[in-house]
Amino acid sequence: MKLRPLGSSGADLPSIGLGTSRYHGGAGPLRRGIELGAWIDTAESYGSEGIVAEAVAHQRERVFVATKVSPGHLEYHSLLRAADASLRRLSTDYIDLYQVHFPSTRVPIAETMGAMETLVDQGKVRFIGVSNFSTSQLVEAQEATSRHPIVSNQVRYSLTRRDVEAELLPYCQDNDVTLIAHTPLDRGGLTARSLITRRPAIDALEQVASEVGASWAQVALAWCLSRPNVVVIPKSDKVERVEQNCASPDIVLTMDQIEMLNRVA
Ligand SMILES: NC(=O)c1ccc[n+]([C@@H]2O[C@H](COP(=O)([O-])OP(=O)(O)OC[C@H]3O[C@@H](n4cnc5c(N)ncnc54)[C@H](OP(=O)(O)O)[C@@H]3O)[C@@H](O)[C@H]2O)c1
Repeated sequence: MKLRPLGSSGADLPSIGLGTSRYHGGAGPLRRGIELGAWIDTAESYGSEGIVAEAVAHQRERVFVATKVSPGHLEYHSLLRAADASLRRLSTDYIDLYQVHFPSTRVPIAETMGAMETLVDQGKVRFIGVSNFSTSQLVEAQEATSRHPIVSNQVRYSLTRRDVEAELLPYCQDNDVTLIAHTPLDRGGLTARSLITRRPAIDALEQVASEVGASWAQVALAWCLSRPNVVVIPKSDKVERVEQNCASPDIVLTMDQIEMLNRVA
């Protein structure tokens, strides 16, 4: 599995993470993904931390595990309690990447980041991330940390959802923040003809997939990974699709193919 630097942390992150929102595949597909070198993304709100615990049992140190704190738990003490609850559900004593799931209009970001830094100081969290933060919200969050950097921002990014390219992605690339692309297959919309409604996406994916001998899903993921600083977290309940997704970093797209796919949006 290809690795990408995780923000400015000095650590590396595999370019494929296994998404677990609305995940119903049991421990098997996650274990297979781990075997293939993938990391795992969950959240306190997904109800999947328990199955992640099962998948990483007896191999915790091999797997990079990320989870998220929900918007209702962003006050200082509430956040510390939420992290302890995630640690219990994950059956672990540390979280590799703890992410603020959504920005808050209610709780000052300095209070939330203060709690996140405390968790790193306590050894319960290795790295701090955010999710669904705009560029200005990310900058504010960065300014609110003093001891531990924000290493990632998890946002929606795919061939057909490219709004982050205007500002957020270049900012992340220039400032050593990893962009974790959630919903990289557009919830399955980029995986098969019957699911796609956008005609240019059909044509480009079909052509490139046949040129490189890969599935549409693999091309859609490889396209995201053609961007510096980006990793992807596709979700699948099925072992064979996890295997396919984990092989996508090995697909090398030519500049012409990337350009053709760029024109889709
Ligand atoms: N931070 C946030 O606010 C946020 C929001 C949304 C999502 N996320 C994260 O991002 C992850 C992924 O997003 P998502 O689950 O919404 O959508 P997604 O990964 O874009 O798409 C998942 C869909 O694609 C199908 N699929 C996966 N691999 C495939 C393949 N190789 N061939 C054909 N179909 C394939 C899956 O079906 P099967 O399962 O049946 O294979 C499922 O229907 C989530 O699980 C979660 O971890 C984060």
